[in-house]
Amino acid sequence: MNILLLNGPNLNMLGKREPATYGHQTLNDIVDQLSQCAQQQGVTLTHFQSNAEHALIDRIHESMGSIDAIIINPGAFTHTSVALRDALLSVSIPFFEVHLSNVHAREPFRHHSYLSDVAAGIIVGVGALGYQLALTAAIQLHKPNS
Ligand code: DQA
Repeated sequence: MNILLLNGPNLNMLGKREPATYGHQTLNDIVDQLSQCAQQQGVTLTHFQSNAEHALIDRIHESMGSIDAIIINPGAFTHTSVALRDALLSVSIPFFEVHLSNVHAREPFRHHSYLSDVAAGIIVGVGALGYQLALTAAIQLHKPNS
């Protein structure tokens, strides 16, 4: 099974960025842990982070035919991007939306997501554990008869 992990804008700043909200782990720490977890379960995990909407969209398009599930933390594009929603729909790959923080307990503009209603699952507010939970869910969903 092949899983693509996508992280959107400003997530490259994890560790330095608002640690009270996003924790002290860097993106590298998170990706390393998740890759180990994936490897133990025989899953190939590919990671891509970008601050550019078009780069994330291009990466999603390139996934068609080779990726079985996407785990995405779209960062602020969650709340703004119809284009990211359309890209995910265009490839028909199930995706899980992850947010480190509990977006529903924050500013009202973070309460709406352009992705949630078309996601296979949403995990918010449990920090980096959310990526692990999404990985478990993606593997489970891929199993026959799930
Ligand atoms: C975030 C929440 C978004 O509202 C914010 O813009 C981010 C990070 C999270 O992981 O909690 O960049 O996606």
